[in-house]
Formats: sequence, C-alpha cells, structure tokens
Amino acid sequence: MQGFYVISRMKATHIYLFLHVFLAAGVLVNAFEPITATVVVSVGAALGRTIYNYLHESCDAKWITYNATALQADLESKLFGQHVASRIILKAVNGFMTNDNPKKPLVLSLHGWTGTGKNFVSGLIADSVYKEGMDSRFVHVFTSELHFPHASQIDNYKSQLQQWIKGNVTNCERSMFIFDEMDKMHPGLIDSIKPYLDYYDKLDGVSYRKAIFIFLSNAGGDSIIQTALDFWKEGRNREEMELKDLETSLSLSVFNNKKSGLWHTSLIDKNLVDFFVPFLPLEYCHVVQCALSAMADRELEPDLKVADQVARDLVYFPKSERIFSVKGCKTIDSKLDYYT
Ligand SMILES: Nc1ncnc2c1ncn2[C@@H]1O[C@H](COP(=O)(O)OP(=O)(O)O)[C@@H](O)[C@H]1O
Ligand SMILES: *[C@@H]1O[C@H](CO)[C@@H](O)[C@H](O)[C@H]1NC(C)=O
Ligand SMILES: *[C@@H]1O[C@H](CO)[C@@H](O)[C@H](O)[C@H]1NC(C)=O
Repeated sequence: MQGFYVISRMKATHIYLFLHVFLAAGVLVNAFEPITATVVVSVGAALGRTIYNYLHESCDAKWITYNATALQADLESKLFGQHVASRIILKAVNGFMTNDNPKKPLVLSLHGWTGTGKNFVSGLIADSVYKEGMDSRFVHVFTSELHFPHASQIDNYKSQLQQWIKGNVTNCERSMFIFDEMDKMHPGLIDSIKPYLDYYDKLDGVSYRKAIFIFLSNAGGDSIIQTALDFWKEGRNREEMELKDLETSLSLSVFNNKKSGLWHTSLIDKNLVDFFVPFLPLEYCHVVQCALSAMADRELEPDLKVADQVARDLVYFPKSERIFSVKGCKTIDSKLDYYT
C-alpha cells in the first residue's frame, strides 16, 4: 500500500511535468495556429485537473462518500462494551449524512472516562465518511493543551480558531472538527465557535450545515461510572443499560460542574449539541478484547493467554470490587510490547 502510494505520487509529478511541457508547447503553437492551440491547451488543462483530482484528495464524492454499512460493521466488531454509544452514534451519523439539506451541522458530545473509546469512535466515524479517514485533510483535531495552551493568548486563539473553521469549511463544506479535552478548553474559546454550530443558513456567505463537530470530554464521567456501578451492584446486566438510565445524571453533572467549560457556555441550553453520548467504563472482559484486537492489528496470532495477562496487569476500581479498568483500554498497545 505504502509502495503504491509512493509510485502514484511519483507518477503524479511526472504527469505534472508532462503537462507543463505540453501546455508550454501549446502556448508556442498558439502563435501560429490559434484554434488548434486553444483546443490543445484546454483539453490538457481538463485532463490535468482530472488526474490531479484522482491522485490528490479533493472535496468530492470520490473522496467523501458515507458508508453506513461500514460504520455499523466497525461499531459492532471493533468497539467493545459501548452498546449505548454505538447505537446513538449510528443513528445520529446515519440521519445526518443521508439528509441532503440538514438545518444545522451535526454536533456530538462524547462523554466518559479516559480510555473508553471516544477518540477511537471519532476515528471510526471519520473512516465511514472520508476515504482517507483521520488522515483526510478535511478532518481537523484540536487539543486544548496542544493548540490553545496559554490562557493569556485566548483572544488570539479565538480569532485563529474562527478563521480556521471558516477557511476549512469554505474549502470543503463536508469538514469534520474534533475537539479533544473539551472540558479543559477555555469557555471563551467554546463561545467563539458557537455561531458555527447554530441554525444559520449562512454566516458571511459560508454555510456550515454539512460540517461535523465532535466534542470529547471526561465531564459526566463520574456519574456514568456511578450508574454502571449501581447496575453491577443490583446484579443487572450491563447490556440492559439504556440511554435514559444515564441521561439524567449525565446532564445534571455536566450542567452542575462549574469547572467544566461546557457549563459556562450556553452550548447546552441553546440546544446546539444534538447528541450527548455516554461512554461506559470498561471491564476486564473488554480489556481482553482490546488486547486481542491490538494483536490482530500487529498481525500477531491472537493469544488469549497473553491478552489475559495484559488485562490482569491493569489497575481496576473501586478498590474492593475491582470491576472497571482505570485507564480503560489505553496503554494496552504498549503493554503488548512487554509481553510479546
Ligand atoms: N471501547 C473500546 N473498544 C475498542 N477499543 C478501545 C475502546 N476504548 C479504547 N480502546 C482502545 O484504546 C485506545 C485509547 O482509547 P481512546 O479512544 O483514545 O480513549 P478516550 O478518547 O476515551 O480517552 C484506542 O485507540 C483503542 O485502541
Ligand atoms: C461499504 O463498506 C462495506 C463494509 O466495509 C464494503 O463491503 C462496501 O464495499 C463499502 N461500500 C462502498 C460503496 O464503498
Ligand atoms: C484549516 O485548519 C487547520 C488546522 O487544523 C489550519 O492549520 C489551516 O490553516 C486551516 N485552513 C484554512 C484555509 O483556514
């Protein structure tokens, strides 16, 4: 795959060179035979554009086509222990992507403890929309600590972020923006993106209604854990848990957490977020599944013994019952280095 990519890039360079010579020749001929030359030049230009689009990711149906089957299959086979999130996401993304005339951009807010799959799911969504997945140049990831580290520069960040969003959506209306660590983001910065999430036909001549915004945060994670723990203590099956079991406590804790940037902004009460998606804490059996799939990714023979060892090596909470993995499936990959 890598090899093919290099070759196709090389070819692209050759073709560009060729086209340049071709066009230059066309211009020379132009002096003698205007009509033929014009035809040659415009055919050359059209051909060049086609080849360019073929090799270079463009904002068109060749590179951006939603595949609902792929998303459903990925959610079912690659995402472990998140039946509630999985259902909401499939419904939300399907509904949005099959609507030719959405009234606002899709805004998802994913909540849950660390290592439970929030970034991972964002990747699956990107894979189902863009041929290049997370590597697409239409997918943009912002991490507060990386992109907006200094509170003193908040005004710069605000205008920069607004320009980025506007510039990128102008380039391609089907752009995706992922904000990691949303709860660490300055409330002013969240406020600055609010207009883009709203029900506007156009802002400054740009329509944002086909864009996708995904917010990731730990906000509400504690209340999700509490609900999952209550279920476990009552001896109820995890899979019986439904959105309504989590919704109230989730929205209460997100609303009432005065430290969370989400609370400070009116993102929530203006209904700009279309779906709140809870991510459950992962149990031992899910960690084993993560380890097995990490082995498969490395083209190793799946070894249940090793997976079991990796999973047993993690820390679980609450201290007495040891049910949920503290770091979810994070660090599994590096643990594999150690055991294999
Ligand atoms: N529910 C899950 N199902 C499958 N893999 C998972 C899950 N949660 C985490 N992982 C694995 O752990 C890694 C880290 O998870 P990540 O999505 O970054 O967690 P979060 O964003 O919730 O902190 C992912 O790349 C993925 O390989
Ligand atoms: C959609 O995804 C499925 C499952 O990965 C695949 O078999 C199918 O070919 C894809 N369809 C298109 C149009 O790419
Ligand atoms: C698009 O966003 C990226 C950040 O992901 C930024 O570097 C780039 O300048 C933006 N493009 C435009 C045209 O604004």
